[in-house]
Amino acid sequence: MAFEQEKLRKEMTRFFRVWNEALKSTRLAAAGFALLAAIVLAPATGVRAAAGSPDSSLPSIPLNAARKSASDLEVGGELTGLPRGATRYVTLASLLTLPQVTYTVADDTNFAGSAGGGTKISGVPLEELAKRLGAAPESDMVVAICDDKYRANYPRDYVRAHHPLLVLRVNGQLPARWPKDRETHQFSMGPYMISHPKFTPAFTALSHTDEAQIPWGVVRIEFRDERAVVGAIAPRGPRAQGPAVQAGYRIAEQNCFRCHNMGAEGGEKSGRPWLVLAAWAAAAPEYFSAYVRAPRKKNRHAEMPANRGYDDATIRAIREYFATFIPVPAEKP
Ligand code: HEC
Repeated sequence: MAFEQEKLRKEMTRFFRVWNEALKSTRLAAAGFALLAAIVLAPATGVRAAAGSPDSSLPSIPLNAARKSASDLEVGGELTGLPRGATRYVTLASLLTLPQVTYTVADDTNFAGSAGGGTKISGVPLEELAKRLGAAPESDMVVAICDDKYRANYPRDYVRAHHPLLVLRVNGQLPARWPKDRETHQFSMGPYMISHPKFTPAFTALSHTDEAQIPWGVVRIEFRDERAVVGAIAPRGPRAQGPAVQAGYRIAEQNCFRCHNMGAEGGEKSGRPWLVLAAWAAAAPEYFSAYVRAPRKKNRHAEMPANRGYDDATIRAIREYFATFIPVPAEKP
């Protein structure tokens, strides 16, 4: 940041010198100087104020321009005082200086310990993290990105309902000593994971029920503008406002968007972008529907999880939603 301010200041100084040179011989020089001072100083102070901790009562933690360790958390998205798209790195040690909350969780399927009274987790609530890391005011959504390009999305309503936390300790242990993942017992669940004090579903859309977003292997957190992220997959065309399409949109946002991307938004774990799914939905509706319900029946090696709980109306709504991305040729008169 200091570097950017310095650059801005130098540019302003150079601009002023040229301008002043031009005005020197005229009696307007003094007026020009005053005008310039007003133009130059106003935004300069603005930048300086914004670059500090957004809430000066909170100690901020260092956002490093380069990675120091494999366990650093990448931070991106809209950060106060930084250019859009900038990435910063936060060390585990500095995250541990933030105030922590501790819960005993029994409903997080990443942990086996529910029978034995639950698993103790400690970490920083995402709401708190956004403040401490300087999320810009317009960023009302948190996106957690995993090393396999899976993305967990935390829109504002989700955060308010469920209070997810960035987990730093599991049963008192730091990430290097966390248990391996429950499915394959092969992978470390670090460097970071996200869990909740307790998850109680907050909405339903047809037969989809609000689902806990509990990624492990989280390497990056982005603070984003929800309208930009979710807007990227807003349904298109004349049928966009229909109730089934809107329900499909809601479901796709929470489910499919974790692994399927639309351009730069959404997870890339599947390697099948949104418009590929849309093409299947429009051109091969039966294949699309069967794949969504039970991928292994269509592809023996499928890694996509099944959605056996979705009834026919739900699958149809998802398909109709995806099909809105494929313009239907105008009917001949
Ligand atoms: C956890 C990740 C994940 C989620 C969530 C997910 N998918 Fe997939 N999907 C995949 C992967 C990975 C593939 C590639 C083939 C495979 O391994 O199944 C895939 C493939 C597909 C295909 C087949 C595409 C082809 O080219 O044959 C369709 C259709 C599909 N997904 C639709 C959806 C829809 C619709 C949703 C939401 C209801 C969804 N997926 C949610 C991971 C996911």
